[in-house]
Amino acid sequence: MTAEEGQPVDVVKTPVERWRRAVPLFALMALVSVVGIALDLADPAFAAFAFLAALGGYVWGQRLRSAPEQTSAPEKAIVEMPEARPRVDSAVEAVVSALPEPALLLTPEGDILTANERVALSVGIARVGDPLSFLVRVPEVLEAVRSAARDDLPRRVEFGERVPLDRWLEAHVVPLHLMAPPAGAGAAAAAQGAPDAVLLTFRDLTQQRRVEQMRADFVANASHELRTPLASLSGFIETLMGPARNDPAARDRFLGIMGAQARRMSRLIDDLLSLSRIELNAHVRPEVQVELGTIVAHVCEALAPLAHERGVEIHVTRPDEPACVLGERDELIRLIENLVENAMKYGASGKRVDVAVEIEKSGEAPLIVLAVRDYGPGIPPEHLPRLTERFYRVDIAASREQGGTGLGLAIVKHIVARHRGRLTIESRPADGAIFTVRFDRATESTKKHNISKH
Ligand SMILES: Nc1ncnc2c1ncn2[C@@H]1O[C@H](COP(=O)(O)OP(=O)(O)O)[C@@H](O)[C@H]1O
Ligand SMILES: [Mg+2]
Repeated sequence: MTAEEGQPVDVVKTPVERWRRAVPLFALMALVSVVGIALDLADPAFAAFAFLAALGGYVWGQRLRSAPEQTSAPEKAIVEMPEARPRVDSAVEAVVSALPEPALLLTPEGDILTANERVALSVGIARVGDPLSFLVRVPEVLEAVRSAARDDLPRRVEFGERVPLDRWLEAHVVPLHLMAPPAGAGAAAAAQGAPDAVLLTFRDLTQQRRVEQMRADFVANASHELRTPLASLSGFIETLMGPARNDPAARDRFLGIMGAQARRMSRLIDDLLSLSRIELNAHVRPEVQVELGTIVAHVCEALAPLAHERGVEIHVTRPDEPACVLGERDELIRLIENLVENAMKYGASGKRVDVAVEIEKSGEAPLIVLAVRDYGPGIPPEHLPRLTERFYRVDIAASREQGGTGLGLAIVKHIVARHRGRLTIESRPADGAIFTVRFDRATESTKKHNISKH
């Protein structure tokens, strides 16, 4: 940073100076009015005008006398102290603009010297010469800049913002010594004085916070889901060891419940494990060509006993041509099972579930479409956006009654994402629900392409 050299001194009179010149005139008018009134020469209107003018002149005179430096800052900088207006070295400016985060260079007083383009994108429009408080209104950040300039120590401030977006930011404040030391003095001499600039950078922590929050919620939810059947098992064990010790009928009943609770725990652990396995492979695209129609037929056959138990008929439709996708067979089985089971459990009142595989050729590239439709009560629209979140259920009691873990649709979503497919959920109350998954159709060329890549 260097002081600006050769800045022409502005000789134009400022408004304050013009007022200062007018003060003697006011004083003269005041004198005339006082004399006029004293000698009873002036008419009342003139006397009132002269009196007001005199009063005005007096007040202005007082203000200018008591605060001779009360001129606005830029005028002062230009007119009286041209050397005090700092300018940023072009090398420093280049470094600030190359920083990957929003960055501002400030004077020790907190005025903006320069800012990079990222500031405009995430903080606001920074104008050189403005105080930082015009741009950032967080008192902790402003205070950190002041203190860093004072004690020459860096600072870090975390703060949350609600408006215009709910976000979480981190500000780094670093005092700097940019002024070149006088010739002959070493670098140590330059570092000894007060800092001559402060670098302020921001980092957006919103995404990181959101992930941390999701992880914490997930652990809390999973523990809660496991603790409930565990508490029930411990309770029955105590009862069987105590009051029900010699009651064979109660023992049989309790053992039945305990078996159901243990199965619930193992289902939950299975679902948690498959979720983490799918997530682990999220970036690895499956590359084996599989025929979706055959998989659907097998899964529906395997689910026939459950369908019979619920009084539901499953109708499967398949295209004449093979419906091939690049996929992981086990994951696709899991996906179809989850959707068809949900349709049978929650839409049982409709007595019918349609599972259709079609080839959609209307777009640029053909797609394989899997649609699972039930004719049950449907899902109220307010729940649709959150349905694929882990442990989200429309009716917790109904889900538990059906042996649900609340993880089925989260698993479906992850499998679909890994297969680069798209999941859509449509539902009208009392008209059932349709879960549709679209995959790219695997052709000989996509298969060859994928194989040749690895
Ligand atoms: N076909 C459907 N009809 C009505 N509600 C459904 C249907 N499929 C899913 N749901 C709702 O979505 C919730 C989440 O489903 P899922 O993730 O599979 O969990 P789970 O079945 O273990 O409860 C279910 O609890 C249920 O409330
Ligand atoms: Mg389910």
